[in-house]
Amino acid sequence: MLGDIERILLDEGAILPRLEAMAAEISALYEGEELTVLCILNGSIIFAADLLRRLNLPLQLQCLHLSSYHGGTQSSGTVTFGALDLAALRGRHVLVLDDILDSGLTLQSIAQRLQQEAAPKSVRAAVLLQKRRKRAHAAAADFVGFEIEDEFVVGYGLDYQGRYRNLPFIGVLKRELYA
Ligand code: IMP
Ligand code: MG
Repeated sequence: MLGDIERILLDEGAILPRLEAMAAEISALYEGEELTVLCILNGSIIFAADLLRRLNLPLQLQCLHLSSYHGGTQSSGTVTFGALDLAALRGRHVLVLDDILDSGLTLQSIAQRLQQEAAPKSVRAAVLLQKRRKRAHAAAADFVGFEIEDEFVVGYGLDYQGRYRNLPFIGVLKRELYA
């Protein structure tokens, strides 16, 4: 697996202190309120595990299985939703956690669906990574771990064809593996 990585962008030594700072920012913003964290599976699983343990807030956790990729390194343009308990989100502050903000389609779809169907008190988003690129969809994240260049990355939850999620760092995948 390590041989498939072009270079390491962010290791745990970089990621964990940044999550500490993000968690402090989030905890300050919601101080005195209760939160529902909506973890987008599968990509956010490791980000969520590390961030949640640093949040100093009463919160509930809900997980949503979502996918916009069907095999490759380009979004398919449609988002497939798994089961979502909309009733449990009514009147709650919802913080959506996603691994990476790329085209913005995923975050826009989920924000739209929540606003239309769940009547939440608020909806915000925190992403571990945000790609530096023009976005086709008007979705923005309220909390961003790291800005990265527009390259395909894996590890720390992010996958290519379902693999590499367990790498303890974020790295650029060798282009010859998918080009
Ligand atoms: P968006 O809907 O285009 O913003 O893409 C968001 C989703 O695409 C993320 O939740 C990831 O699952 C996936 N994605 C986007 N860029 C990458 C990448 O560089 N590596 C792995 N997955 C990615
Ligand atoms: Mg994903």
